[in-house]
Amino acid sequence: MKLDTIIQGGKLVTAADTTRTDLGIRDGKIVAHAQRLAETQADGAEIVDAKGCYVIPGGVDVHVHLDLPFCGTVSSDDYDSGTRAAACGGVTTIIDFAIPYGKETLQQAVDNWHARAEGKACVDYSFHLAITNWDRQGKDVAKMIDRGIPTFKQFMIYAKEGWQSDDAAIYGALETLKELGGMLCVHAESNGVLDLLIDRHHNRAEMKKHGAYLHTMTRPNFVEAEAIQRAILWTKATGGRLFVVHMSTAEGADLVKRAQQEGVNVLAETCAQYLALDDSVFATKDGHLYATCPQVKKPRDQKRLWEGLADGEVCSVSTDTCTFSRKQKAMWKGDWTKIPMGMPGLETLLPVVYTQGVLKRRLTVNQFVDKCCTTPARIMGLYPRKGTLQIGSDADVVIIHPTKKRKVDWRKMQTNCDWSPYQGWELAGFARHAFCRGRQIVDDYTFVGRNGYGEFVPRFNPGLA
Ligand code: URP
Ligand code: ZN
Ligand code: ZN
Repeated sequence: MKLDTIIQGGKLVTAADTTRTDLGIRDGKIVAHAQRLAETQADGAEIVDAKGCYVIPGGVDVHVHLDLPFCGTVSSDDYDSGTRAAACGGVTTIIDFAIPYGKETLQQAVDNWHARAEGKACVDYSFHLAITNWDRQGKDVAKMIDRGIPTFKQFMIYAKEGWQSDDAAIYGALETLKELGGMLCVHAESNGVLDLLIDRHHNRAEMKKHGAYLHTMTRPNFVEAEAIQRAILWTKATGGRLFVVHMSTAEGADLVKRAQQEGVNVLAETCAQYLALDDSVFATKDGHLYATCPQVKKPRDQKRLWEGLADGEVCSVSTDTCTFSRKQKAMWKGDWTKIPMGMPGLETLLPVVYTQGVLKRRLTVNQFVDKCCTTPARIMGLYPRKGTLQIGSDADVVIIHPTKKRKVDWRKMQTNCDWSPYQGWELAGFARHAFCRGRQIVDDYTFVGRNGYGEFVPRFNPGLA
Protein backbone atom coordinates (compact mmCIF):
# COMPACT_ATOMS: atom_id res chain seq x y z
CA MET A 1 0.00 0.00 0.00
CA LYS A 2 1.30 3.46 -0.85
CA LEU A 3 1.89 5.55 2.27
CA ASP A 4 2.09 9.32 2.74
CA THR A 5 4.19 9.23 5.92
CA ILE A 6 6.14 6.60 7.83
CA ILE A 7 7.09 7.20 11.43
CA GLN A 8 10.18 5.10 11.82
CA GLY A 9 12.08 3.58 14.68
CA GLY A 10 10.10 4.88 17.65
CA LYS A 11 8.43 3.14 20.55
CA LEU A 12 4.67 3.17 20.05
CA VAL A 13 3.03 3.84 23.39
CA THR A 14 -0.65 3.16 23.88
CA ALA A 15 -2.77 3.00 27.02
CA ALA A 16 -2.19 -0.77 27.01
CA ASP A 17 1.38 -1.40 25.89
CA THR A 18 4.64 -0.23 24.37
CA THR A 19 5.98 -1.77 21.16
CA ARG A 20 8.84 -1.07 18.80
CA THR A 21 6.91 -0.63 15.55
CA ASP A 22 6.89 1.74 12.59
CA LEU A 23 3.65 3.48 11.84
CA GLY A 24 2.21 4.20 8.39
CA ILE A 25 -0.13 7.08 7.54
CA ARG A 26 -2.26 7.53 4.48
CA ASP A 27 -5.04 10.03 3.71
CA GLY A 28 -5.04 11.31 7.28
CA LYS A 29 -5.51 7.89 8.86
CA ILE A 30 -3.26 5.36 10.54
CA VAL A 31 -3.10 2.46 8.10
CA ALA A 32 -0.12 0.32 9.07
CA HIS A 33 1.89 -0.91 12.05
CA ALA A 34 4.86 -3.01 11.08
CA GLN A 35 8.53 -3.60 11.68
CA ARG A 36 10.83 -2.01 9.10
CA LEU A 37 7.99 -0.32 7.21
CA ALA A 38 10.40 2.26 5.83
CA GLU A 39 12.55 -0.46 4.27
CA THR A 40 9.67 -2.30 2.67
CA GLN A 41 7.17 0.41 1.76
CA ALA A 42 8.98 3.73 1.48
CA ASP A 43 7.95 4.39 -2.15
CA GLY A 44 7.82 8.20 -1.95
CA ALA A 45 6.52 8.36 1.61
CA GLU A 46 7.93 10.99 3.91
CA ILE A 47 10.06 9.26 6.55
CA VAL A 48 9.99 10.76 10.03
CA ASP A 49 12.77 9.59 12.32
CA ALA A 50 11.45 8.70 15.77
CA LYS A 51 14.48 6.75 16.99
CA GLY A 52 14.93 7.03 20.74
CA CYS A 53 11.50 8.63 21.11
CA TYR A 54 8.00 7.72 22.19
CA VAL A 55 5.25 7.82 19.57
CA ILE A 56 1.93 8.54 21.27
CA PRO A 57 -1.63 9.45 20.23
CA GLY A 58 -2.28 13.18 20.09
CA GLY A 59 -3.33 14.60 23.44
CA VAL A 60 -7.06 15.26 23.97
CA ASP A 61 -7.77 18.21 26.26
CA VAL A 62 -11.47 18.04 27.07
CA HIS A 63 -11.60 21.20 29.19
CA VAL A 64 -10.61 24.39 27.41
CA HIS A 65 -11.96 27.96 27.26
CA LEU A 66 -10.71 29.99 24.30
CA ASP A 67 -11.80 33.57 23.59
CA LEU A 68 -14.15 33.39 26.58
CA PRO A 69 -15.96 36.52 27.82
CA PHE A 70 -15.57 36.10 31.57
CA CYS A 71 -14.92 38.16 34.71
CA GLY A 72 -15.33 41.47 32.88
CA THR A 73 -12.80 40.69 30.13
CA VAL A 74 -12.15 38.09 27.42
CA SER A 75 -9.65 35.25 27.89
CA SER A 76 -6.58 36.10 25.85
CA ASP A 77 -5.87 32.82 24.07
CA ASP A 78 -8.21 32.53 21.11
CA TYR A 79 -8.49 29.78 18.48
CA ASP A 80 -5.33 31.05 16.82
CA SER A 81 -2.86 31.23 19.72
CA GLY A 82 -4.69 28.61 21.79
CA THR A 83 -4.58 25.89 19.16
CA ARG A 84 -0.98 26.73 18.17
CA ALA A 85 -0.16 26.30 21.85
CA ALA A 86 -2.05 23.01 21.86
CA ALA A 87 -0.05 21.73 18.87
CA CYS A 88 3.34 22.53 20.42
CA GLY A 89 2.18 20.88 23.63
CA GLY A 90 1.19 17.72 21.72
CA VAL A 91 -2.57 18.25 22.01
CA THR A 92 -4.31 17.60 18.70
CA THR A 93 -7.95 17.77 19.84
CA ILE A 94 -9.59 20.19 22.26
CA ILE A 95 -13.10 20.47 23.63
CA ASP A 96 -14.22 24.02 24.46
CA PHE A 97 -17.41 25.11 26.22
CA ALA A 98 -19.97 27.01 24.14
CA ILE A 99 -21.83 29.24 26.59
CA PRO A 100 -25.14 31.03 25.92
CA TYR A 101 -25.10 34.64 27.17
CA GLY A 102 -28.26 36.49 28.20
CA LYS A 103 -31.25 35.07 26.34
CA GLU A 104 -29.22 33.21 23.71
CA THR A 105 -30.33 29.71 22.76
CA LEU A 106 -28.07 26.68 22.81
CA GLN A 107 -27.91 26.81 19.00
CA GLN A 108 -26.86 30.47 19.07
CA ALA A 109 -24.10 29.62 21.53
CA VAL A 110 -22.87 26.85 19.23
CA ASP A 111 -22.96 29.21 16.23
CA ASN A 112 -20.99 31.80 18.18
CA TRP A 113 -18.34 29.25 19.10
CA HIS A 114 -18.11 27.98 15.53
CA ALA A 115 -17.49 31.56 14.44
CA ARG A 116 -14.66 31.86 16.98
CA ALA A 117 -12.99 28.69 15.70
CA GLU A 118 -13.54 28.76 11.95
CA GLY A 119 -10.53 29.88 9.93
CA LYS A 120 -8.40 30.00 13.05
CA ALA A 121 -8.18 26.55 14.61
CA CYS A 122 -4.95 24.68 13.90
CA VAL A 123 -6.00 21.44 15.66
CA ASP A 124 -9.33 19.62 15.77
CA TYR A 125 -11.98 20.84 18.16
CA SER A 126 -15.38 20.09 19.58
CA PHE A 127 -17.74 21.79 22.02
CA HIS A 128 -19.57 21.02 25.22
CA LEU A 129 -22.63 23.21 25.77
CA ALA A 130 -23.19 25.14 28.97
CA ILE A 131 -26.74 25.16 30.27
CA THR A 132 -27.29 28.47 32.00
CA ASN A 133 -31.11 28.36 32.17
CA TRP A 134 -32.51 24.85 32.26
CA ASP A 135 -36.15 25.95 31.98
CA ARG A 136 -35.53 27.70 28.68
CA GLN A 137 -32.72 25.58 27.24
CA GLY A 138 -33.70 22.06 28.35
CA LYS A 139 -36.06 21.53 25.42
CA ASP A 140 -33.21 21.97 22.91
CA VAL A 141 -30.85 19.44 24.41
CA ALA A 142 -32.01 16.55 22.19
CA LYS A 143 -31.35 18.54 19.00
CA MET A 144 -27.83 19.37 20.18
CA ILE A 145 -27.08 15.72 20.87
CA ASP A 146 -28.23 14.85 17.35
CA ARG A 147 -25.77 17.48 16.06
CA GLY A 148 -22.83 15.82 17.79
CA ILE A 149 -22.74 17.71 21.08
CA PRO A 150 -23.70 15.14 23.72
CA THR A 151 -22.04 16.73 26.77
CA PHE A 152 -23.42 19.66 28.74
CA LYS A 153 -22.05 21.69 31.60
CA GLN A 154 -23.76 23.28 34.55
CA PHE A 155 -22.02 25.59 36.99
CA MET A 156 -22.95 25.53 40.67
CA ILE A 157 -21.37 29.01 41.05
CA TYR A 158 -20.95 32.17 38.96
CA ALA A 159 -24.33 33.80 39.61
CA LYS A 160 -22.82 37.16 38.63
CA GLU A 161 -21.94 35.80 35.20
CA GLY A 162 -25.52 34.55 34.82
CA TRP A 163 -24.23 30.96 34.60
CA GLN A 164 -25.29 29.43 37.93
CA SER A 165 -27.65 26.43 38.04
CA ASP A 166 -29.61 25.40 41.11
CA ASP A 167 -30.22 21.85 42.34
CA ALA A 168 -33.50 21.52 40.44
CA ALA A 169 -31.83 22.44 37.17
CA ILE A 170 -29.03 19.93 37.77
CA TYR A 171 -31.48 17.21 38.75
CA GLY A 172 -33.59 17.98 35.67
CA ALA A 173 -30.59 17.92 33.34
CA LEU A 174 -29.35 14.60 34.76
CA GLU A 175 -32.80 13.04 34.28
CA THR A 176 -33.19 14.28 30.72
CA LEU A 177 -29.64 13.46 29.64
CA LYS A 178 -30.04 9.96 31.00
CA GLU A 179 -32.99 9.44 28.65
CA LEU A 180 -31.12 10.94 25.71
CA GLY A 181 -27.73 9.27 26.26
CA GLY A 182 -25.94 12.52 27.12
CA MET A 183 -23.59 13.34 29.98
CA LEU A 184 -23.61 16.22 32.44
CA CYS A 185 -20.36 17.97 33.36
CA VAL A 186 -20.59 19.89 36.63
CA HIS A 187 -18.46 22.66 38.09
CA ALA A 188 -18.88 21.63 41.70
CA GLU A 189 -18.41 24.33 44.33
CA SER A 190 -20.91 25.12 47.04
CA ASN A 191 -22.20 28.58 46.16
CA GLY A 192 -24.03 29.42 49.41
CA VAL A 193 -21.13 28.73 51.75
CA LEU A 194 -18.64 30.19 49.30
CA ASP A 195 -20.59 33.47 49.07
CA LEU A 196 -20.84 33.59 52.87
CA LEU A 197 -17.09 33.11 53.27
CA ILE A 198 -16.33 35.69 50.60
CA ASP A 199 -18.63 38.25 52.32
CA ARG A 200 -17.04 37.49 55.67
CA HIS A 201 -13.47 38.03 54.46
CA HIS A 202 -14.16 40.82 52.01
CA ASN A 203 -12.83 43.73 54.02
CA ARG A 204 -9.91 46.13 53.74
CA ALA A 205 -7.97 44.82 56.72
CA GLU A 206 -7.93 41.21 55.52
CA MET A 207 -7.24 42.13 51.93
CA LYS A 208 -4.26 44.19 53.06
CA LYS A 209 -3.00 41.39 55.27
CA HIS A 210 -3.51 38.36 53.01
CA GLY A 211 -3.77 39.72 49.44
CA ALA A 212 -4.45 36.97 46.86
CA TYR A 213 -4.12 34.27 49.53
CA LEU A 214 -7.69 35.17 50.54
CA HIS A 215 -8.80 33.34 47.40
CA THR A 216 -7.74 30.10 49.06
CA MET A 217 -9.01 31.03 52.51
CA THR A 218 -12.56 31.42 51.23
CA ARG A 219 -12.49 28.12 49.36
CA PRO A 220 -11.67 25.43 51.91
CA ASN A 221 -11.89 21.86 50.60
CA PHE A 222 -15.41 21.29 51.89
CA VAL A 223 -16.66 23.91 49.42
CA GLU A 224 -15.80 21.52 46.59
CA ALA A 225 -16.53 18.31 48.50
CA GLU A 226 -20.07 19.28 49.51
CA ALA A 227 -20.93 20.20 45.93
CA ILE A 228 -19.47 16.99 44.51
CA GLN A 229 -21.42 15.00 47.11
CA ARG A 230 -24.63 16.78 46.12
CA ALA A 231 -24.05 16.19 42.41
CA ILE A 232 -23.31 12.52 43.12
CA LEU A 233 -26.55 12.20 45.10
CA TRP A 234 -28.59 13.63 42.23
CA THR A 235 -26.77 11.28 39.85
CA LYS A 236 -27.56 8.29 42.03
CA ALA A 237 -31.19 9.34 42.39
CA THR A 238 -31.71 9.89 38.66
CA GLY A 239 -29.48 7.11 37.36
CA GLY A 240 -27.86 9.83 35.21
CA ARG A 241 -24.26 10.21 34.07
CA LEU A 242 -21.99 12.76 35.75
CA PHE A 243 -18.55 14.11 34.88
CA VAL A 244 -16.99 16.17 37.67
CA VAL A 245 -14.79 18.77 35.98
CA HIS A 246 -11.54 20.22 37.32
CA MET A 247 -11.61 18.24 40.58
CA SER A 248 -9.01 19.67 42.94
CA THR A 249 -9.41 18.00 46.35
CA ALA A 250 -8.53 14.77 48.12
CA GLU A 251 -12.07 14.72 49.53
CA GLY A 252 -13.50 14.90 46.01
CA ALA A 253 -11.41 11.91 44.93
CA ASP A 254 -12.61 9.93 47.98
CA LEU A 255 -16.25 10.74 47.25
CA VAL A 256 -15.96 9.82 43.58
CA LYS A 257 -14.20 6.57 44.42
CA ARG A 258 -16.89 5.59 46.92
CA ALA A 259 -19.70 6.45 44.51
CA GLN A 260 -18.05 4.46 41.71
CA GLN A 261 -17.77 1.48 44.06
CA GLU A 262 -21.53 1.80 44.72
CA GLY A 263 -22.18 1.74 40.99
CA VAL A 264 -23.03 5.42 40.53
CA ASN A 265 -22.23 6.57 37.01
CA VAL A 266 -19.72 9.28 37.92
CA LEU A 267 -16.37 10.12 36.36
CA ALA A 268 -13.94 12.86 37.33
CA GLU A 269 -11.08 14.71 35.73
CA THR A 270 -8.39 16.73 37.39
CA CYS A 271 -6.20 19.40 35.80
CA ALA A 272 -2.42 19.66 35.48
CA GLN A 273 -2.28 22.64 37.85
CA TYR A 274 -3.86 20.65 40.71
CA LEU A 275 -1.20 17.98 40.24
CA ALA A 276 1.79 20.29 39.91
CA LEU A 277 1.09 23.41 42.00
CA ASP A 278 -0.06 24.04 45.55
CA ASP A 279 -1.56 27.06 47.25
CA SER A 280 1.79 28.41 48.44
CA VAL A 281 1.84 30.15 45.03
CA PHE A 282 -0.73 32.64 46.35
CA ALA A 283 1.69 33.89 48.97
CA THR A 284 4.26 34.91 46.32
CA LYS A 285 4.62 38.40 44.86
CA ASP A 286 2.62 37.49 41.73
CA GLY A 287 0.24 35.18 43.60
CA HIS A 288 -2.86 36.74 42.06
CA LEU A 289 -1.81 35.44 38.61
CA TYR A 290 -2.62 31.88 39.75
CA ALA A 291 -6.21 32.65 40.73
CA THR A 292 -8.54 30.09 39.20
CA CYS A 293 -11.75 28.34 40.28
CA PRO A 294 -11.40 26.03 42.05
CA GLN A 295 -7.98 27.18 43.25
CA VAL A 296 -4.95 24.93 43.58
CA LYS A 297 -4.95 23.20 46.94
CA LYS A 298 -2.45 21.60 49.38
CA PRO A 299 0.32 19.03 48.77
CA ARG A 300 -1.88 16.34 50.35
CA ASP A 301 -4.54 17.01 47.70
CA GLN A 302 -1.93 16.74 44.95
CA LYS A 303 -0.78 13.42 46.37
CA ARG A 304 -4.33 12.08 46.51
CA LEU A 305 -5.09 13.17 42.96
CA TRP A 306 -1.96 11.41 41.63
CA GLU A 307 -3.04 8.29 43.52
CA GLY A 308 -6.53 8.64 42.06
CA LEU A 309 -5.09 8.78 38.57
CA ALA A 310 -3.02 5.66 39.12
CA ASP A 311 -5.96 3.83 40.79
CA GLY A 312 -8.53 5.00 38.26
CA GLU A 313 -11.11 7.06 40.18
CA VAL A 314 -9.58 10.16 38.56
CA CYS A 315 -9.92 9.23 34.94
CA SER A 316 -8.27 12.01 32.96
CA VAL A 317 -6.17 15.17 33.07
CA SER A 318 -7.13 18.34 31.27
CA THR A 319 -6.14 22.00 31.62
CA ASP A 320 -9.19 24.27 32.08
CA THR A 321 -7.14 26.66 29.94
CA CYS A 322 -8.60 30.12 30.48
CA THR A 323 -5.72 32.50 29.86
CA PHE A 324 -5.47 36.00 31.25
CA SER A 325 -2.47 38.27 30.72
CA ARG A 326 -0.74 40.22 33.48
CA LYS A 327 -2.69 43.32 32.43
CA GLN A 328 -5.98 41.46 32.73
CA LYS A 329 -5.02 39.93 36.08
CA ALA A 330 -4.07 43.44 37.26
CA MET A 331 -7.80 44.27 37.22
CA TRP A 332 -7.87 42.92 40.77
CA LYS A 333 -6.15 46.05 42.20
CA GLY A 334 -5.77 44.30 45.55
CA ASP A 335 -9.36 42.95 45.69
CA TRP A 336 -9.15 39.18 45.18
CA THR A 337 -12.83 38.95 44.19
CA LYS A 338 -12.05 40.95 41.04
CA ILE A 339 -9.27 38.77 39.59
CA PRO A 340 -10.13 37.21 36.20
CA MET A 341 -10.16 33.51 37.07
CA GLY A 342 -8.11 31.09 35.02
CA MET A 343 -4.65 30.20 33.75
CA PRO A 344 -2.89 29.18 30.53
CA GLY A 345 -2.24 25.44 30.22
CA LEU A 346 -2.64 23.86 26.77
CA GLU A 347 1.03 24.12 25.85
CA THR A 348 2.23 22.50 29.06
CA LEU A 349 -0.40 19.79 29.71
CA LEU A 350 1.53 16.81 28.36
CA PRO A 351 4.94 18.09 29.53
CA VAL A 352 3.70 18.69 33.10
CA VAL A 353 1.94 15.33 33.39
CA TYR A 354 4.80 13.47 31.72
CA THR A 355 7.54 15.10 33.79
CA GLN A 356 5.73 15.14 37.11
CA GLY A 357 3.98 11.84 36.51
CA VAL A 358 6.14 9.49 34.45
CA LEU A 359 9.61 10.81 35.29
CA LYS A 360 8.70 10.92 38.98
CA ARG A 361 7.29 7.38 38.76
CA ARG A 362 3.78 8.30 39.79
CA LEU A 363 2.41 6.99 36.48
CA THR A 364 3.68 4.56 33.87
CA VAL A 365 4.12 5.92 30.39
CA ASN A 366 1.06 3.87 29.38
CA GLN A 367 -1.00 5.45 32.16
CA PHE A 368 0.18 8.85 30.95
CA VAL A 369 -1.18 8.08 27.47
CA ASP A 370 -4.35 6.68 28.98
CA LYS A 371 -5.04 9.77 31.12
CA CYS A 372 -4.10 12.45 28.58
CA CYS A 373 -5.16 10.85 25.29
CA THR A 374 -7.21 7.65 25.33
CA THR A 375 -9.59 7.91 28.26
CA PRO A 376 -10.54 11.55 27.60
CA ALA A 377 -11.35 10.56 24.02
CA ARG A 378 -13.41 7.58 25.20
CA ILE A 379 -15.33 9.52 27.83
CA MET A 380 -16.22 12.29 25.45
CA GLY A 381 -17.34 10.12 22.53
CA LEU A 382 -14.29 10.69 20.32
CA TYR A 383 -12.88 7.18 20.47
CA PRO A 384 -11.61 5.34 18.41
CA ARG A 385 -11.35 8.23 15.96
CA LYS A 386 -9.15 10.09 18.46
CA GLY A 387 -6.97 9.15 21.43
CA THR A 388 -5.47 5.96 20.01
CA LEU A 389 -3.00 4.69 17.41
CA GLN A 390 -5.28 1.97 16.04
CA ILE A 391 -5.49 1.17 12.35
CA GLY A 392 -8.29 3.34 10.99
CA SER A 393 -7.97 6.07 13.62
CA ASP A 394 -7.19 9.65 12.67
CA ALA A 395 -3.43 10.02 12.30
CA ASP A 396 -3.13 12.31 15.32
CA VAL A 397 0.36 11.32 16.33
CA VAL A 398 2.88 12.99 18.61
CA ILE A 399 6.57 12.18 19.03
CA ILE A 400 8.14 13.06 22.36
CA HIS A 401 11.63 12.55 23.69
CA PRO A 402 11.57 10.46 26.88
CA THR A 403 14.11 12.49 28.84
CA LYS A 404 15.19 15.62 26.98
CA LYS A 405 13.91 18.64 28.88
CA ARG A 406 13.14 22.15 27.70
CA LYS A 407 12.94 25.19 29.91
CA VAL A 408 9.48 26.75 30.04
CA ASP A 409 9.61 30.37 28.91
CA TRP A 410 6.39 32.11 27.91
CA ARG A 411 8.39 34.37 25.57
CA LYS A 412 9.17 31.36 23.35
CA MET A 413 5.72 29.83 23.50
CA GLN A 414 2.65 30.13 21.28
CA THR A 415 0.26 31.26 23.99
CA ASN A 416 -0.78 34.91 24.09
CA CYS A 417 0.05 34.91 27.78
CA ASP A 418 2.90 37.03 29.13
CA TRP A 419 3.55 34.74 32.09
CA SER A 420 3.46 31.00 32.79
CA PRO A 421 2.61 29.13 35.98
CA TYR A 422 5.61 26.94 35.10
CA GLN A 423 8.07 29.67 34.06
CA GLY A 424 11.63 28.34 34.34
CA TRP A 425 10.55 24.74 34.98
CA GLU A 426 12.51 22.11 33.07
CA LEU A 427 9.99 19.80 31.40
CA ALA A 428 10.23 16.80 29.08
CA GLY A 429 7.27 15.75 26.93
CA PHE A 430 6.87 18.69 24.55
CA ALA A 431 5.94 17.69 21.01
CA ARG A 432 9.09 17.17 19.00
CA HIS A 433 6.90 16.35 15.99
CA ALA A 434 3.11 16.33 15.85
CA PHE A 435 0.57 15.33 13.22
CA CYS A 436 -3.13 16.09 13.12
CA ARG A 437 -5.09 13.90 10.68
CA GLY A 438 -1.80 13.09 8.98
CA ARG A 439 -0.67 16.66 8.41
CA GLN A 440 2.47 17.69 10.25
CA ILE A 441 1.76 20.60 12.59
CA VAL A 442 4.97 20.54 14.67
CA ASP A 443 8.44 19.87 13.26
CA ASP A 444 11.45 19.78 15.58
CA TYR A 445 9.56 21.67 18.32
CA THR A 446 8.51 24.34 15.79
CA PHE A 447 4.90 25.02 14.86
CA VAL A 448 4.35 24.31 11.14
CA GLY A 449 0.54 24.02 11.07
CA ARG A 450 -1.90 26.50 9.62
CA ASN A 451 -4.95 28.37 10.75
CA GLY A 452 -8.19 26.87 9.51
CA TYR A 453 -6.82 23.32 9.27
CA GLY A 454 -8.54 22.26 12.49
CA GLU A 455 -11.98 20.72 11.99
CA PHE A 456 -15.04 20.49 14.19
CA VAL A 457 -15.45 16.89 15.36
CA PRO A 458 -18.98 15.76 16.19
CA ARG A 459 -19.19 13.39 19.16
CA PHE A 460 -21.59 10.61 20.08
CA ASN A 461 -22.12 8.23 23.01
CA PRO A 462 -20.13 9.82 25.84
CA GLY A 463 -19.26 8.03 29.08
CA LEU A 464 -17.40 4.81 29.63
CA ALA A 465 -20.32 2.47 30.14
O1 URP B 1 -11.22 29.79 36.83
C1 URP B 1 -11.63 29.12 35.91
N1 URP B 1 -11.61 27.82 36.03
N2 URP B 1 -12.07 29.69 34.78
C2 URP B 1 -12.77 29.07 33.74
C3 URP B 1 -14.21 28.83 34.08
C4 URP B 1 -14.44 27.54 34.81
O2 URP B 1 -14.91 27.56 35.93
O3 URP B 1 -14.15 26.47 34.29
ZN1 ZN C 1 -15.59 25.43 35.97
ZN1 ZN D 1 -13.43 25.50 32.94
